[in-house]
Amino acid sequence: MRVVETFAAARSWRRGRTSLVPTMGYLHEGHLSLVRIARERADTVMVSLFVNPLQFDDPADLDRYPREAAGDAALLEDAGCDVLFAPTLEEMYPAPPATRVSVADLAATMEGAHRPDHFDGVATVVAKLFAGLQPDTAVFGRKDAQQLAVVTRMVEDLSFPITIVPGPTRREQDGLALSSRNVFLNAEERTAALAISRGLMAAAGACEAGERSAPVLEGLVSGEIAGSTLRLDYVELAAAADTSRMTVLDRPGFLAVAAYAGRTRLIDNVWLWPDGTADTGALLEGPSVLYQGGI
Ligand code: PAJ
Repeated sequence: MRVVETFAAARSWRRGRTSLVPTMGYLHEGHLSLVRIARERADTVMVSLFVNPLQFDDPADLDRYPREAAGDAALLEDAGCDVLFAPTLEEMYPAPPATRVSVADLAATMEGAHRPDHFDGVATVVAKLFAGLQPDTAVFGRKDAQQLAVVTRMVEDLSFPITIVPGPTRREQDGLALSSRNVFLNAEERTAALAISRGLMAAAGACEAGERSAPVLEGLVSGEIAGSTLRLDYVELAAAADTSRMTVLDRPGFLAVAAYAGRTRLIDNVWLWPDGTADTGALLEGPSVLYQGGI
């Protein structure tokens, strides 16, 4: 595996079809599953590792963001990454960018309502990665459903010749979606957090059994959360194409939830289709072993 800091060096290692997996590091099995998806589709697998200041509203949050560069490199090598692009701040933003990419309405609801400039920061850095690395495909996790919708729309709107490949959400064996934030949960919060995946799985089951009403599907999640110590932020059935709220599942969509376990904000979702199919993600075969020791 080559570890490079510049766009030019990364591009020079492209051979055949290239797939990119953008990350901010501190990798867990969810990220690595995306690298494996890229490996199946491409001759050259590139992973970018850059903690993007543009997508953090709160400077303290950026400072707190966990970093584990040496460990990440070893994991990526094992997972089959060919090129690790880990740019410096100066390489990514030689000057504060005057050009921002804004995917308007898609970025305004749900996570965007909670973090107003977040998705502009994501879209801008992803556009830079696409332009600077020129991959044929790029893999994004369904775990960040709205981000996936924003990136997919940006690629269409700006005619990037890049195929976006979604990766299913990887979950602990008890259903909790993997997230680097899980290390902040104490034992009680960790148990309470399972209400999220329980509610989502119930909704996916109801959808498979024929339920299409958004209030009913959303209610299955909010009901589980109401019976727990979690605090619900939102639960919303959103259209995959434009993230608008649906009243009936009549287009591909995702049922997204954000809730607080203590001070930790968790997000999760299931993807649903009008024919009753669902993507609820995939359970790990054993417990997650990466970075369980805290930050
Ligand atoms: P990061 O949070 O590091 O996530 C990198 C990728 O891993 C994203 O596509 C995310 O959806 C995916 N991912 C996270 N948890 C997952 C899980 N449990 N299962 C499957 N995939 C999972 O998302 C970002 O970084 C940044 O916003 C980025 C796109 C890199 C732009 O800075």
